[in-house]
Amino acid sequence: MCGIIGYLGDRQATPILMESLKRLEYRGYDSAGVAVLEMPTSGSARLTSVTKSEAKVDTLIDKLKANMPSGKLGIGHTRWATHGKPTYINAHPHTDCHSRIFVVHNGIIENFAELKAELEAAGHEFTSDTDTEVVPHLIEANYKGDFLSAVRAALRRIRGAYALAMFTTDDPELLVGARLNAPLVVGLGENEYYIASDITAIIPYTKRVLVLGEGEVAAVTPLGAEVSTLDGVSVEPKLIHVDWDLSQAQKGGYQHFMLKEIHESSEAVANAMRGRLTDDGTVSFREFDVPDDDLRRHSEVLLLGMGTSLHAAMVGEYVIEDWAGIPAKAMDASEFRYRRPTFGKDALAVVITQSGETADTLVGLHQAKERGALTVAVTNVVASSAARDADGAIYLHSGPEIGVASTKTLLAHLVSLYLLGLRLATVHGRVSLERRRELVESLRALPDHVQSIVDREKEIAEIAHKYSRYRNFMYTGRGLGYPLALEGAIKLKEISYIHAEGTTGGELKHGPIAMLDENFPVIAICTASATKDKMVSNVHEIVARNAPVLALVTEGDRSLAKVATDVFVMPAVEEAAGAILNTVMLQLFAYHVAVELGQDVDQPRNLAKSVTVE
Ligand code: G6P
Repeated sequence: MCGIIGYLGDRQATPILMESLKRLEYRGYDSAGVAVLEMPTSGSARLTSVTKSEAKVDTLIDKLKANMPSGKLGIGHTRWATHGKPTYINAHPHTDCHSRIFVVHNGIIENFAELKAELEAAGHEFTSDTDTEVVPHLIEANYKGDFLSAVRAALRRIRGAYALAMFTTDDPELLVGARLNAPLVVGLGENEYYIASDITAIIPYTKRVLVLGEGEVAAVTPLGAEVSTLDGVSVEPKLIHVDWDLSQAQKGGYQHFMLKEIHESSEAVANAMRGRLTDDGTVSFREFDVPDDDLRRHSEVLLLGMGTSLHAAMVGEYVIEDWAGIPAKAMDASEFRYRRPTFGKDALAVVITQSGETADTLVGLHQAKERGALTVAVTNVVASSAARDADGAIYLHSGPEIGVASTKTLLAHLVSLYLLGLRLATVHGRVSLERRRELVESLRALPDHVQSIVDREKEIAEIAHKYSRYRNFMYTGRGLGYPLALEGAIKLKEISYIHAEGTTGGELKHGPIAMLDENFPVIAICTASATKDKMVSNVHEIVARNAPVLALVTEGDRSLAKVATDVFVMPAVEEAAGAILNTVMLQLFAYHVAVELGQDVDQPRNLAKSVTVE
């Protein structure tokens, strides 16, 4: 949600800002802008060149190419609007009354109205509708020659969430970053430094990254980066080495990142398992290394997530309850935070978040921790907020995911939850050695099975072509098929803007069936499971209402062959593995429907990859 980048170094800043904003665009893309501190010609004052666009980053880049600002210090921003429409005036960077202080921001300043009133009363003039604009004015109000002190004083007044990159025209060798409840990293290159809202922006330039903690400020100069608290106390920053490479963050010949990432599914599934599973089903997680006795004490499991990650949590709920025989509950993290949950010290709280930065999920994590739960983050981003704040982390190792709609990381989440389920089942003595071996075999065969579905892309594209004329879709399933139905529906609606909803096969008769007719197709998940026969009955009920049905069935099962309008035959695998294969099919289906309709698959309207505000 909003991408930010800052550069200070020996090279020209503008081309680097342009490239980085392109890579950050998945975080938000309704407007964009850069500010570059220009090199003064002899005797003249230093000027800052500000370029903005009220459209996507490409429009900004065209403007910059036509008039390249020259300078070695600059900041850039790609916006996902919170306060104020996506207009030129509201695009970042924002500045103070005298164009001396420039700021880009991700997050929400919750007390901005109060601060703005106070600053206006003191004579400050505002030009935008954004909450961000209070930041440069507040710094200006505190600025008495020491920029860093003014930044700290201003930030001590701010409530809410921010990741900021800032500079002043008074000091061409100082770039400042700060964060609270929103991610920010500092990249350390050769004679150059970067400040970025995430690692993806700076992968081509450096793999050495400092991760800022909450309420920390980084002062970057040609001599290095110094980190301190808002009170000016020096902090030893955490240095990490990033193992993502550039090719992972490029399209590599695919039409869209989403398609490329679906094609990386098999590898993502293999990576999520690598080094964690022995032949007899013993599971170990390096960064979540809890002794069996401790883990056994946690007799209930709470799974928190948002969006696609919530659907992963729901699959985890079914699997943990079934395999480990202990209560498990998946919850929308944004709801969890406002309830008075009854669980406590006996709980294991599993937070599921690809980015590790989803605001609601992080609050859920903090609340679970406060109540004494053991916490673990299942996340793709090393040293992300969730990974750092939880007691342990299970990393997905999927490489960067750029497409806004999560695909390969969902599969990696599911595999990770299966491994966790197996571990819990083992410590609770609920799974025989024979069953463990069966599961190991099934998991190990998964990458090849996943690839076999990806290889059927053409077949899926043909089905998508046939169904893309409909404006409404119902997805239905039972057991693991239910969260998959919700996920199938969210995928379709988020990238194609077609109305789609998910329901259990049982619930279908209690309302949703009223919607069905020959123009309202149903995607029914009828692959092998304990409730498969019930799903077959549901399909009969649907067909009786003339709705077209696309049924996912297991090979060898002919029960719907003459009933459903179309069947998509899946390999015969264990149920949990089957859920992953079904997911891949539904992702490819949604992708091809959206492409068929000519939608912007990687950057769907109104969405952002990482939602760092409530
Ligand atoms: C946004 C994205 C979704 C994602 C959700 C949770 O809504 O558009 O694709 O599933 O955030 O993100 P997380 O990073 O916490 O998994």
